[in-house]
Amino acid sequence: MTRNDRANFGSKLGVILASAGSAVGLGNIWRFPFETGNHGGAAFILIYLVCVLLLGIPIMVAEFLIGRHSRANTAGAYQRLAPGTRWRWVGRMGVLAGFLILGYYSVVAGWTLEFIGEAATNSFAGKSAADFIASFNSFTGNPWRPIVWLMLFLLATHFIIVKGVEKGIEKSSKIMMPVLFILLIVLAVCSVSLPGAGAGIEFLLKPDFSKVDGNVLLGAMGQAFFSLSLGMGCLCTYASYFRDDTNLTKTAFNVAAIDTMVAILAGFIIFPAAFSVGIQPDAGPSLLFITLPNVFQQAFGNLPWLAVILSLMFYILLALAALTSTISLHEVVTAYLHEEFKFSRSKAARLVTAGCIFLGVFCSLSLGVGKDYTIFGLNLFDSFDFITAKIMLPLGGFFISIFTGWYLDKKIVWEEVSNNGSLKVPVYKTLIFILKFIAPIGIAAIFINELGLLK
Ligand code: PHE
Repeated sequence: MTRNDRANFGSKLGVILASAGSAVGLGNIWRFPFETGNHGGAAFILIYLVCVLLLGIPIMVAEFLIGRHSRANTAGAYQRLAPGTRWRWVGRMGVLAGFLILGYYSVVAGWTLEFIGEAATNSFAGKSAADFIASFNSFTGNPWRPIVWLMLFLLATHFIIVKGVEKGIEKSSKIMMPVLFILLIVLAVCSVSLPGAGAGIEFLLKPDFSKVDGNVLLGAMGQAFFSLSLGMGCLCTYASYFRDDTNLTKTAFNVAAIDTMVAILAGFIIFPAAFSVGIQPDAGPSLLFITLPNVFQQAFGNLPWLAVILSLMFYILLALAALTSTISLHEVVTAYLHEEFKFSRSKAARLVTAGCIFLGVFCSLSLGVGKDYTIFGLNLFDSFDFITAKIMLPLGGFFISIFTGWYLDKKIVWEEVSNNGSLKVPVYKTLIFILKFIAPIGIAAIFINELGLLK
C-alpha cells in the first residue's frame, strides 16, 4: 500500500480523541486504583507520574513517529524502517501482547455490561458493603454470565473494527470522551464528601516512601505503559493513520495529560469511597466493582431515581471507554494479519475476535471454577495481566526507545517530529536524550532490581 491509499483520521481533534480513547479505559478507572491500592497509595502515584513523564511521553512520540513514517502495522513498520533485521520481532511481540491483553481485558469489559444491567434495575438499592462483595464474587465465579458478556463485548468491538478507522473509531471517541470526563468529576465530588472519606484522600496524597520497593517501581512502570497503551505498537498503528500535519509531540502531551487526569480522578472516586465504607484498598481487581456501587448507594440512596440515572450513565461510559481501548487493541492485531498475511480486513478481524473469545473464556473461568490452576502462583487472568503489563510492554518500550534513539536515522526522527522542519520543537534535544539514555537505562534498572540482581 502506498502512503496515500491508506485510511486516515479526518481531523486533529479526531487524532487526539482516538489516541486518548485508546489510552483512557479500564486501565485508568479499574486498574490504576487497584494497583495504587496494592502498592500503598500516594508514593506509587508519584512514581507513576515520573514514569509517565520520563518514559511514557517520549516513548509515545517514538511510537507515533515510527507509525507515521512507515504507514504500516506495527510489525510491518519495523520491516520498512529496518528491512531484514530482527527489529521486526519488537513489532511481533507487540502484536502478541495486544492479543493477550485483549483476551483478559474483554473479561473486565464484559463485567461492565453486567453492571449496566444492575444499575438499570436499581439492584444496588439497600445493599451493604458485604452484600456487594458477595454478589460480585458470585457473579465472577459463575461459569456462564461473564462469558456471555465478554463475547458480546468482543462482538461489538468486531463490528466497529469492520466498519473501519474513520467512521468507527474517530466518531465514537469524539462524543464519548467529554461526557465521561464530566461524569467522573461529579462522582469524585460525591465520593470525597462521603463520611469518613478523609482517610482515602490522605491515602492518595500523603506518600509513605518506606513502602517503596522493586515491586512498587515495576508496578508503576507497568501501569504507565498499560494506561498509555504503550510498548506494543498500539499508538504506532494509530499513528500510521495520522495526517502529515499532526504535531506528534503535542499530541503525546495531550494524550498523556488526559489519561493521567482520568486516572487521578478515578483515584479520587474509589479511595474516599472505599475508606468510607471500610473496604480494604488492596482488594485487587474487584475494587472498582465493589466500591463504586457503594458510592451510588451511599450518596444517592435517598434519591433512587438519581442513583439509577448516574450509575447507569457511569457504567455505560465505562463500557464505552473500555470499547475505545478494545478497538485499539483489536486494530493492532487485525492490521497485522491484514497487511502481513494478506487476509481481507474482515477475515483478519474475524480471526482476532474468535481467538480473543477463546482466551477470554479461559481467563474468565480462571476466576471461578478454574482458580486452582495457577502459573507461578497466579491464576490465568492475573498471569496474563502480569506478563503483558509488567513484562512485555516495558520490554517493548525498552526496544522502541533504543530503536528510535540509536538505530533510526536522525534525519527521519527530526522530519517526523518537526513535520519536515515546519514546527519548532523546543523539547527535541531532551526527547532524544531520554530515548537514548534515560528510558532504556531506567527500564533496565527497574527490571534488574525486580529480578533481585542488584542485591
Ligand atoms: N490503555 C488502555 C487502558 O487504559 C489499555 C490498553 C493497553 C489499550 C495497551 C491498548 C494497548 O484501558
